[in-house]
Amino acid sequence: MKHLISTKQIESQSQLENLFNLADIMKSETLTFKERRVLAIVKNEASTRTRLSFEVAMKRLGGDVVNIQLDETTSIAKGETLQDTIKTISQYVDAMTIRHSTKGIMENCVNWSSIPVINAGDGNGEHPTQALIDAYTIFKEFGRLDNLNIMFVGDLENSRTVHSLIKLFCLFKQNNFIFVSNSSLENITHDCKCYKDFELSLSKHGNTLDVLYMTRFQKERHQSKSFYEVVPYYKLTEENVKNLSSHCRVMHPLPRCEEIPTSFDSDHRATYFRQMNNGMYIRMALLYNLFENQDYFARYNTIPSA
Ligand code: NCD
Repeated sequence: MKHLISTKQIESQSQLENLFNLADIMKSETLTFKERRVLAIVKNEASTRTRLSFEVAMKRLGGDVVNIQLDETTSIAKGETLQDTIKTISQYVDAMTIRHSTKGIMENCVNWSSIPVINAGDGNGEHPTQALIDAYTIFKEFGRLDNLNIMFVGDLENSRTVHSLIKLFCLFKQNNFIFVSNSSLENITHDCKCYKDFELSLSKHGNTLDVLYMTRFQKERHQSKSFYEVVPYYKLTEENVKNLSSHCRVMHPLPRCEEIPTSFDSDHRATYFRQMNNGMYIRMALLYNLFENQDYFARYNTIPSA
């Protein structure tokens, strides 16, 4: 079964290269599924880009989508379990993306499902497709995924996109990571060579940074809002942005709150809208790969015939 639950499943650089090549093909060729495919987008958390780009990706490939919100509009309101809901969805569609507020729930979902499951974000666990988008974006901007200085900033303990991206970067050598956060980082830094800081000090690191990856404060994952009120909030300001080198790329999985001012959007280093646009092509590549190939990350030597 071709589930995508964690970036740990991606074991080689060539798997990534193949996916990136297919995403490039998606930008220029019109490929469609050989059969009519339907994807269910299942969620109990808010989603804009992930939902929209999966939906548009399916439609551009000639497929269709059903959206299922796990709330009072489904039989969950009557007491139906998530297990039975997932089993039900499996009967009607060809694959499902699931976004759920509970970390680790995907392990259960794949056992309940008889169709492929794509993790679209599990609590403060992982968000593998966003990490693939982020890696693709960095690759497009720099032409490499090694020898980079990358700073991650924000509520990193709870930022699932960062967790998945760090795991992906374990495939590449000689990257330096700086984690700027006031949350615990114990479980997310893995074996990577990293430097931790509580302060966003761009005067110290800004001129050597290749990527500044900003994240928002994950307020829905904190019991009390007081943390947000008492801790310094990491922001890009007109002042500290002056310390960023001209080649630095500022990324953000979005949504942003106050961490990047809209006045920065027109700066050539603001990469988050390109990153967002790449999302559709990576998701098209993932879906095409899922439905048209035996191996999820199959090698593409030629453009697959539509
Ligand atoms: C992220 C998510 O949902 O984890 N958004 C996204 O999918 N692009 C980031 C976030 O919510 O902060």
